[in-house]
Amino acid sequence: MRVYFDYNATTPLSAEVVDAVIQATRDQFGNASSVHHFGQQAKAALDDARSAVGRLINGDPSEIIFTSGGTESDNFAIRGAADALEPSSRRHLIASAIEHEAVLNTFKALARRGWRTTLIPVDHTGVVSPARLRDLITADTALVSVMHANNEIGTIQPIAELAGIAHEHGALMHTDAVQSAGKIPVDVRAAGVDLLSLSAHKFNGPKGAGVLWVKRGTRMQPILTGGRHERSRRAGTENVPAIVGMGVAATGTRAKLDAEAARDGTLRDRLEAGILAAVPGTAVNGGDSPRVPNTTNISFDRVEAESLVIALDLEGIAVSTGSACSSGTLEPSHVLRAMGLSAHRTQNSLRFSLGLFSTGEEVDRVVDLLPRLVDKLRGLTRRSQTVGIN
Ligand SMILES: Cc1ncc(COP(=O)(O)O)c(C=O)c1O
Repeated sequence: MRVYFDYNATTPLSAEVVDAVIQATRDQFGNASSVHHFGQQAKAALDDARSAVGRLINGDPSEIIFTSGGTESDNFAIRGAADALEPSSRRHLIASAIEHEAVLNTFKALARRGWRTTLIPVDHTGVVSPARLRDLITADTALVSVMHANNEIGTIQPIAELAGIAHEHGALMHTDAVQSAGKIPVDVRAAGVDLLSLSAHKFNGPKGAGVLWVKRGTRMQPILTGGRHERSRRAGTENVPAIVGMGVAATGTRAKLDAEAARDGTLRDRLEAGILAAVPGTAVNGGDSPRVPNTTNISFDRVEAESLVIALDLEGIAVSTGSACSSGTLEPSHVLRAMGLSAHRTQNSLRFSLGLFSTGEEVDRVVDLLPRLVDKLRGLTRRSQTVGIN
């Protein structure tokens, strides 16, 4: 039995999405910009997907720009707004310290071009405080970017309140809703944002398709220049099969949202309670804050998270850490670090993220297995410390 508890990394496609992608690959091969029948068929398929994604987020289809995924949408939101505002006196950008790298590294790139950037710190709750934004925002802030739900710990941010503050100061508000769409309601009007990013592969759609929702009237410069696709806002021949799949996934996820959130929440809570009860020295990170229902991030005292990921994988269970392993050195999670967790705890935390195909049987298997694996790893750590190797 293989268990996939890494839905925040990517999700499996639902059966109707697979069928739609196959059918569009075969039948809608036309270039959506072509005037002939084949092109118009492809364009009609894109229009259906545009409407479906619009319904998922309460946005107008004309405000939906198709992209290659969450990374491009975040880049487009920030670079596109910054480029449009470059001639103004606004030269300051604000994001939270717990954003995805797609936002953080875009900020770094713009800082090298002379933009002033500020990261809003968070505390152990993993939630961005509107009061902190009020302290940091200035008359020359061009854009505030805060994610709707965090990918590592699942905490939900008070976007409507943050957007209100941004607007009071004449700044644009962007939210990365990549990890909230399909898990909790996402409503661009209720959130009061100007820009919102989505990625299809996080809600049972295909990889390589995403959306930047741009509120009508928002001034943006394209970051991909070329033909007049997407109303001249994003050049490049549209990936019709992936976009069709995203539309079908958006419709499916919208229809199932409440039921699936309740089901995932029950499974996640059972997993979390089971692990805390069965494994001593465990604690949930961000557990007291509002969270998306599918995610839990748990610290295992005296266990290196990477070793536990490998031990679980050998048993057929897929989970992940918040740490990125690059060139053999473990980078502690910037999210857990921003929350003020100790260096040790940032490196012994695991993320379990559930979804559409997760079952109670899978939860029970993980809860059954973990105490033995953790005991074994703790034993190894003790032995290596005793003989002085590490
Ligand atoms: C919060 C968040 N933003 C952006 C991305 C990037 O999305 P994509 O993989 O579609 O480029 C991810 C993916 O991990 C994410 O979790």
